[in-house]
Amino acid sequence: MSIDVKGVNFSYNKNTSHENHVLKNINLTIDKNEFVGITGEIGSGKSTMVKLFNGLFIPDTGKVSVEGLDAADKKVRRKVGLLFQNPHDQLFAKTVFEDVAFAPSNFGITGDELTERVYESLQLVGIDKKLADISPFKLSGGEMRRVALAGILAMKPEYLILDEPTSGVDIKGKIELYNNLEKIHENGTCIIMITHQIDDLFPVANKIVLMNQGRIVFTGTSDEYLDSIDFPAPEITILMRELQKQGFDVRSNVSTVDDAYKEINRMWINTGRGK
Ligand SMILES: Nc1ncnc2c1ncn2[C@@H]1O[C@H](COP(=O)(O)OP(=O)(O)O)[C@@H](O)[C@H]1O
Ligand SMILES: [Mg+2]
Repeated sequence: MSIDVKGVNFSYNKNTSHENHVLKNINLTIDKNEFVGITGEIGSGKSTMVKLFNGLFIPDTGKVSVEGLDAADKKVRRKVGLLFQNPHDQLFAKTVFEDVAFAPSNFGITGDELTERVYESLQLVGIDKKLADISPFKLSGGEMRRVALAGILAMKPEYLILDEPTSGVDIKGKIELYNNLEKIHENGTCIIMITHQIDDLFPVANKIVLMNQGRIVFTGTSDEYLDSIDFPAPEITILMRELQKQGFDVRSNVSTVDDAYKEINRMWINTGRGK
C-alpha cells in the first residue's frame, strides 16, 4: 500500500505566457507505514507536490496513484488528508464544531458518531470543548492551526499530509505535535510532514525527501541524509561535525540534542572522566 509518483511534471498557468514549470520529473514512493519528512528551500515545490497526492492538482505528464487508484479518483480524497500551510485556506465554517465535522459528515457520518469524532479530534489537538461553538476565525493563530488539523484528523485519513505544521509553533507546541503525530503513526496512519526548517524534521521522520528547484535530489533514511555533507543539516549536526573536525571522538550523524548529549557523554566516559 503506497502513494506512487512516476515521471511527474507540473506547471502553473500551463499554456499561457506565465507558464511556470514547477515540478520536474518527480519519482517517489511513499509506503503506508512510513513517517516521511519533505524538506527543501522555500519555493522548491513542496506544497505543489503534495497537492498532487490527493488529486487537488493533476500532473501535466506522469502519474500519481494512491493504492493503485488514480489520485484524481474521488475515493482518494477520503484516504489522503492534507493540512494546508495556511489555516485560513482550510477553515471556513461558522463554528469550530461545524468546521471539524465538515469532512466526516460529507462521508456520510452523522449523529452521535459524528459528535464523538469531532470531540475526539479536538481533544487530540488539545482544543477545549468549550471552543466548539465559537467562530474558528476568532481563535489565535496557533489555535486555528490546531482546529484545521482536527478537521483533517476527523476524516481518519490513511495518509496524513501536513504542510509546514511547525511554522510559528513554540517548542512546547512542537513537542505536543510530535507526540500526537507519533501516536497517529503508531495507529497505522502514514504521515507526510513538510517543513523547510530542517531541525524540525529529524525528531520524527524516518524517511527524508529533499527538494531543490522542483526536483527531488535525495530520498533515503535520516542517517543516509546526515552522512552527506552536501545537504542542509540541523544545527546540532553542524556542531557535532565541528567537534569531530577538532579531533573529538564523536559521531556526527546525530540530529537531536538528546542524541548529541548521549554521544558526548559516551566520549567523555571513554576518556575515563565521565560516569
Ligand atoms: N498559484 C501559483 N501560481 C503560480 N506559481 C505558483 C503558485 N503557487 C506556487 N507557485 C510557484 O511554484 C514554486 C513552488 O512553490 P511551492 O510549491 O509553494 O514551494 P514550497 O512549498 O517548497 O515553498 C514557486 O516558485 C512559487 O512561486
Ligand atoms: Mg510550501
